[in-house]
Amino acid sequence: MTTIFCAIDTPDLPKALMLAKSLYGTGVSLKLGLEFFTACGADGVRAVQAVTERPIFLDLKLHDIPHTVAATLRVLRGLSVGYVTVHTSGGLAMLQAAQDAVEGDLKLLGVTVLTSLREADLSDIGWQDDSQAVVKRLAGLAHTAGLYGVVCSGLEASMLRDVYPGLKRVVPGIRPTGSDHGDQQRVLTPQDAVAAGADYLVIGRPITQAADPRAAAVDAVTNLQLPS
Ligand code: C5P
Repeated sequence: MTTIFCAIDTPDLPKALMLAKSLYGTGVSLKLGLEFFTACGADGVRAVQAVTERPIFLDLKLHDIPHTVAATLRVLRGLSVGYVTVHTSGGLAMLQAAQDAVEGDLKLLGVTVLTSLREADLSDIGWQDDSQAVVKRLAGLAHTAGLYGVVCSGLEASMLRDVYPGLKRVVPGIRPTGSDHGDQQRVLTPQDAVAAGADYLVIGRPITQAADPRAAAVDAVTNLQLPS
């Protein structure tokens, strides 16, 4: 069963709470990211937790030395969120330290290649392989470290389903047909991403910037025939 996370990307706590309340009961879960956390901190996360019935995805994309990432995750245990992201390009030792630091129900997700990057951007960074090969290699590190899942684009999801079937696939860069791509490059429609093997979809602006975010969330759930 696929789960949809709505990316609540705002520095404004009242706005985040309004969005969270409007999505209550739709079957859509909430993702809070760097912008929200930088502005509103742990208290902001607790405030949003109070208005959702579902585990929160805290998308901090941690990327630092193993000691620092592990120490940060130990602090985050106090927040009782459901999912946290770390960058797989932090390397195997960092991913293992991160996984060792989590307890209870907290699930670690490894970001592979950001969905905003095109093939040309990969070579600028110094990655000579194409995105399929880079994602496969980075997902291998997540698999070895025992992470719950990886974040990838829909274009790599079916390859990862074959190579690492035990790793959950979280897919951002979701754009319903006809919607604005914004800064996303490696995009798929919700239906195509699910068909490609996405276990979780991350949908931000197509819901949060819709004239009626609740209706957009209900549409996404209905179109994929998910339970609310
Ligand atoms: O749908 P929209 O592009 O607005 O949502 C993008 C969200 O997904 C943002 O919160 C972004 O941080 C997150 N994300 C991403 N690409 C990744 C990982 C997370 O776009 N590889």
